[in-house]
Amino acid sequence: MTDTKQHLWGGGSSEMHPALAAISDSLGQDAPLADADLRGCIAYAKALGKCGVLTDEESTTLADALVKLREEFTDGRWIPSGGEDVHTAIEQEITDRLGDLGGRLHTGRSRNDQVATAFRLAVMEEIDGLIQAIRSVQQGLVNQAQNELDTFVPSYTHLQRAQPIRLAHWLMAYFWPLERDIERLLQIRTRVSTLPLGSGAVSGHPFGIDRDFLASELGFERVSENSLDSVGDRDFAIDFAFGASMVALHLSRLSEELIIWSSSEFGYIQWRDDLATGSSLMPNKKNPDLAELVRGRSAQAVGDLVSLLVLIKGLPSSYQRDLQEDKPPVWRIAGATKASVNAMAAALEGIRFKGEKMGSALTDDTLATEMADVLVTRGLPFRQAYRIVSRLAKEARERDCGLKEAATQLPAESIEPLTIDDIQNLTIEGAIERRTTPGGTAKSAIELQLAKAQALLA
Ligand code: ARG
Repeated sequence: MTDTKQHLWGGGSSEMHPALAAISDSLGQDAPLADADLRGCIAYAKALGKCGVLTDEESTTLADALVKLREEFTDGRWIPSGGEDVHTAIEQEITDRLGDLGGRLHTGRSRNDQVATAFRLAVMEEIDGLIQAIRSVQQGLVNQAQNELDTFVPSYTHLQRAQPIRLAHWLMAYFWPLERDIERLLQIRTRVSTLPLGSGAVSGHPFGIDRDFLASELGFERVSENSLDSVGDRDFAIDFAFGASMVALHLSRLSEELIIWSSSEFGYIQWRDDLATGSSLMPNKKNPDLAELVRGRSAQAVGDLVSLLVLIKGLPSSYQRDLQEDKPPVWRIAGATKASVNAMAAALEGIRFKGEKMGSALTDDTLATEMADVLVTRGLPFRQAYRIVSRLAKEARERDCGLKEAATQLPAESIEPLTIDDIQNLTIEGAIERRTTPGGTAKSAIELQLAKAQALLA
């Protein structure tokens, strides 16, 4: 920017230094607020009529012109330009169209309460869009879980084979974190839904504007309690950034596991061709880039959350210009998270699980806990039962064989009162089906889980 600029405050006589204009202009970063700001302007024009600042006729003319401007903006006939920010561009345009009447729109209003209002409206919309997108990932998980109800896979702790579970159980383990994310986002949405408009620059409205009317016109649940707090409050942006970051992190954990499962060493997952990529050098490669990108992008969300947290550190009450820097992080988090959510929804439609490979990983060491449990049913304290099976497991490790085989190699007394028959009778399915309590792996418990999930999606 080389030319100096007229600004909208003061008498308009002095000009802004180009270096200041370069860091002051925010049209690029607040353009996504255009629709929300127009909605705010329309409601405000009506409210100015209600409190007598404008006549009914003036109020209607102004509101109608703003409605028309919004339509033109929506279908691309008008693009905000020329102002130092989107709010200024809108006010200038309406003043160009209506003359003095346009100049009355800003009565009692400041960009401080105006920006905070538009930003909250935009964040509420982002939350609604994100929740909808998350629902399709959840649907994908439920669909896969239904298909894989009878597929068995080892569960892992410390990335070591632990106990057998149903694949549906693993899939649903990613459904519930997303359900918590939605719950969290809805709680956040309620807090975002507090109207700042009518707070003026800092001290409230001098013409008795009806703030409850403004709130109901714009779909806010309540009006803010303190004008000073209201114009400088960005907790809602941080709340949203946190809520979205949690979504990004949950998807990152799922991605990590999909990546591990895609390795030849695991071989649990087959990616549909259009969802995977190849290597420019190694013809043998099929890479889970989708999951790697989702995992990688989550870093940005967390970074942007941190930058918002630091942004408000040390700010006195009310509006400070630093707060203009609050929008880019929010847009980035919203955009990246939604893209990741959409990518994961596509992934869940296009990955195929290899049940046979999973089944072959269910070696009989995953039944060690079951063996101890058999002894518990015979009245042994669990700790004692554990020690007996531990001996067996140690033997199996030394001989590099399974537990069942190790048992046949050991003197019968060394594992008493466990018998070879006890051990031979244990099955993967039996272990899975014994866990009938809610949250367990038995088919009945998982069907209950799926029914609850489906009710949430309905
Ligand atoms: N573009 C600015 C922002 O987003 C507008 C607020 C300017 N307010 C002020 N008092 N200078 O924060």
